[in-house]
Amino acid sequence: MNILKQLDEGSYGTVYLVQYDDKQIVAKVANLRKLDLKSPVTLTLIEKEVTALRELSNSSAKEYVPTFIDSYYQVYKELPHHFILMEYINGEQLVSYTNNWEGDIPVDILHHLTNGLINGLCEIHYNGFTHGDVKPENILVTEQGAIKYVDFGFSCNARNVDPTHKSKRGTLMYDPPEFFQEYPFTNSLQKAQAHDVWSLGIVIYELAHGLDKVPYDIKAVQVQQEIAIAPYIPPNYTRDDGSINKFLIFWLINDWKNRPTIHDIKEVFNKEIVKEKI
Ligand SMILES: Nc1ncnc2c1ncn2[C@@H]1O[C@H](COP(=O)(O)OP(=O)(O)O)[C@@H](O)[C@H]1O
Ligand SMILES: [Mg+2]
Repeated sequence: MNILKQLDEGSYGTVYLVQYDDKQIVAKVANLRKLDLKSPVTLTLIEKEVTALRELSNSSAKEYVPTFIDSYYQVYKELPHHFILMEYINGEQLVSYTNNWEGDIPVDILHHLTNGLINGLCEIHYNGFTHGDVKPENILVTEQGAIKYVDFGFSCNARNVDPTHKSKRGTLMYDPPEFFQEYPFTNSLQKAQAHDVWSLGIVIYELAHGLDKVPYDIKAVQVQQEIAIAPYIPPNYTRDDGSINKFLIFWLINDWKNRPTIHDIKEVFNKEIVKEKI
């Protein structure tokens, strides 16, 4: 295995493009020594990522995730490392679409991306998993316009729904209201799926309106308090007849128990938004 280049420096691992036999693939490499000191939950992150990738790439979700290749421990540069090998997705992070269009995304591109995003999450949930960290950095769009979800370190399934799910770092922007309302965080697969549904709703809201344009005040000092009462900034996408706005209102429900499932969302999208076009 020969490292070609570093693609990204992640929260628990470094992502490399590597030459593997005659193929170029991705290796997500975690330095265990460094991580063990930093956080004992890292091993869980790795296990979760491996379980989700392994199972989903052998399921009906396979076209929406990188194909799992291998997972092993190995001493590298005299330190214990964990390697996850997976298919290389030649694509761009979804965040670059939000950036490029700055709230002026054409309706056909918005529909196309939304369709892939919904179908991908629907298959992930249908196969008994949640993603756990849906945000534009964890979604890749290939040259052909296909959607791929990456980064399953916070995923869960019925066997390992995890109350420590809350111990997340990074942006709060895609976390749902209940994340900041309820304590203790009683978890269930249904609640974790509702979490993904909210996050994807925010991703699409932002895609339609532009970078950092979300249905609450992202600049507030106590942004958690704003999210807890979101959504209160109505969607205002102007390049269609208003159906995306109506759709986002239907989608982003504050109370997770009344929030539609991704399956409900898929049905409404096909019936109300694209009709027979796709
Ligand atoms: N299979 C892949 N193919 C191509 N790029 C990838 C792949 N997996 C990850 N990446 C890139 O590396 C970045 C970091 O990977 P990710 O799994 O999200 O790590 P972290 O958990 O550190 O955020 C992703 O945002 C994506 O841009
Ligand atoms: Mg990531």
